[in-house]
Amino acid sequence: MLKEHSVGILATGRYLPERVLTNADLEKMVDTSDEWIVTRTGIKERRIARDDQPSSEMAVAAARNALEKAGLTGEDLDLIIIATVTPDMFFPSTACIVQEQLGAKKAAAFDLSAACSGFLYGASVATQFIKSGVYRYALVVGVENLSKITNYEDRSTCVLFGDGAGAAILGPVEDGKGFLSFDLGADGTGAESLKLGAGGSRIPPSKIQPGSPDNYLYMSGNEVFKFAVRVMNTATDTVLDRAGLTKDDIDFLVPHQANFRIIDSAMRRLGLSEDKVVVNLDRYGNMSSASIPVALDEAVSEGRIKEGDTLVLVGFGGGLTWAASAMKWSSVEKGQE
Ligand code: UT7
Repeated sequence: MLKEHSVGILATGRYLPERVLTNADLEKMVDTSDEWIVTRTGIKERRIARDDQPSSEMAVAAARNALEKAGLTGEDLDLIIIATVTPDMFFPSTACIVQEQLGAKKAAAFDLSAACSGFLYGASVATQFIKSGVYRYALVVGVENLSKITNYEDRSTCVLFGDGAGAAILGPVEDGKGFLSFDLGADGTGAESLKLGAGGSRIPPSKIQPGSPDNYLYMSGNEVFKFAVRVMNTATDTVLDRAGLTKDDIDFLVPHQANFRIIDSAMRRLGLSEDKVVVNLDRYGNMSSASIPVALDEAVSEGRIKEGDTLVLVGFGGGLTWAASAMKWSSVEKGQE
């Protein structure tokens, strides 16, 4: 029997494209207003990848940033998981392209499709391998290129999404620190409420009709909103309970960044003040799987999240899926921005 290790995040990294799309820009593109977007979502601007920029390029930049802070190189990695709904191609996996660019010769590599819950799904999978002693170091990246599947003539979705990548290096940490518990879940009855219709086996690439709504991200906002509020609560309670903690133990909530009203409802229910909740959707919008790792990286590098802090990370999205984790923060990197 192999010795079980406590597993945590040794370092985080991020990459955000330079191009900024503001609410004022969107007012010129569709019938919307800065006032509607800010009051209904909390979003002010988002980042947009270059037209010729694949997801792998953003993932590699975030991964290099995290590896450097962890004091590791690609060759140290045993496993690469890329959580994304906007891979470079249907296959090979974006993880294999990232593996080659990082020179991570010994790493197993695969993509994981759990939409906005993808980073935490990936972290939980990597944790099992490290905990059991099979692997030592894993790279988990949430990366999205949502601008490539967004219809910029549809005001109900185009104001919401942005592009970016967040990375984490997972490895063994001091006993009792790192990931304390996980809760993963799915409700496939909501599969049609958030989707990209074309490009898979139902509408294969050779049958795609230019201009069809199937070529763009579709979301039934109200349905996903109700689901999100519900599972944020249940998943948070579950991970606290599994870790033997209560809401009073939370130092920081790091939620998926879809809508400030969803975050606000969780914050009030948990009795948390605003300084205990990490929010960046005003600057980046909803980056699906990249939202949580980017938020985490910013809070750590700004020195907000510190050694020994108790965190709850919680995400929800397409699938429909949800995922949460309670953590005791322990990393090799110290805040430095
Ligand atoms: O990351 C994956 C998980 N995703 C989420 O968690 C998203 C969850 N859903 C949401 O955040 C919200 O449902 C939205 C932000 C998408 C929409 O907000 P809402 O308050 O649910 O608005 P609604 O869809 O009920 O629309 C209200 C009104 C409608 O007009 P009428 O029918 O009342 O006249 C919409 O046509 O707002 C209109 N509307 C807009 N108006 C100005 C919708 N989008 C816009 C817009 N600008 N961009």
